Amino acid sequence: MTIPATQTKIAQLAPVLITGGGRRLGRHAAETLADSGQPVIITYRTERPELDLLRAKGITTLQADFTDEAHILDFIQRLKNATLCLRGIIHNASDWLPDQQDLKSASENFQHLFTVHMLAPLLINQACEPLLLAYQGQRDIIHISDAVVQKGSKKHGAYVATKAGLESLTQSFAARFAPNIKVNAIAPALIMFQPNDDAAYREKALKKSALQIEPGAEVITQTIQYIMDNRYLTGVILPVEGGRSVI
Ligand SMILES: NC(=O)c1ccc[n+]([C@@H]2O[C@H](COP(=O)([O-])OP(=O)(O)OC[C@H]3O[C@@H](n4cnc5c(N)ncnc54)[C@H](OP(=O)(O)O)[C@@H]3O)[C@@H](O)[C@H]2O)c1
Repeated sequence: MTIPATQTKIAQLAPVLITGGGRRLGRHAAETLADSGQPVIITYRTERPELDLLRAKGITTLQADFTDEAHILDFIQRLKNATLCLRGIIHNASDWLPDQQDLKSASENFQHLFTVHMLAPLLINQACEPLLLAYQGQRDIIHISDAVVQKGSKKHGAYVATKAGLESLTQSFAARFAPNIKVNAIAPALIMFQPNDDAAYREKALKKSALQIEPGAEVITQTIQYIMDNRYLTGVILPVEGGRSVI
């Protein structure tokens, strides 16, 4: 299909927003999209030297901590000052916090994870609908969830519950924003170990999937690109989990 020249021009100008784009999966997606000529805006919570490499590629970096409603609304205002339109939004920011024993900490933990995984995507999607509609090409919202939603977790129940909420929001926003904006989710299992994961943990984690590999961030970036290229996909939660469900 030939893309009309006007649409190509707008595609070159409308950025994709990636939350939590300063490291690991978010950073890989940001760099790959930027290298392909797609303008990118990322949010980061923590300033680190590597962010300068992203800035050198022309990626816009906005500081944002999605810990409460006020910070999320402040970020939305600064985003609107930075761009008039958006090609897409990838909700990648996440905290993998373990459950807490004492009730006060458990409550604070749940509230925090709810705010990062559900409230921030909800408010950003709602507030950014006009920015997405201002772009004249295909528009995408992608929520990054977690395959563990299908099973639950003994140690990360609040994390999983709020990711399940994010998957539910995927379907609701897909219905609400149709036919103008596609809304999908990606549900990864093990993609990248944390540097401090020990050998025993790594071995146990690898055995949970049929393919038994640590695939790296590339498989998530590929899935993001697949969703963005596909014009007949909305309201879908795509597992990227190396065959966990078949063993
Ligand atoms: N890695 C895996 O194997 C795996 C498996 C299943 C699902 N996932 C999902 O894939 C996504 C990316 O995974 P990852 O391993 O790259 O995650 P990660 O290394 O933990 O990075 C998460 C990102 O979210 C940002 N963030 C955390 N708390 C935030 C807050 N309160 N406000 C704003 N930003 C915040 C972090 O910012 P700073 O670094 O700037 O602080 C960081 O850039 C996540 O949604 C995760 O749940 C990953």
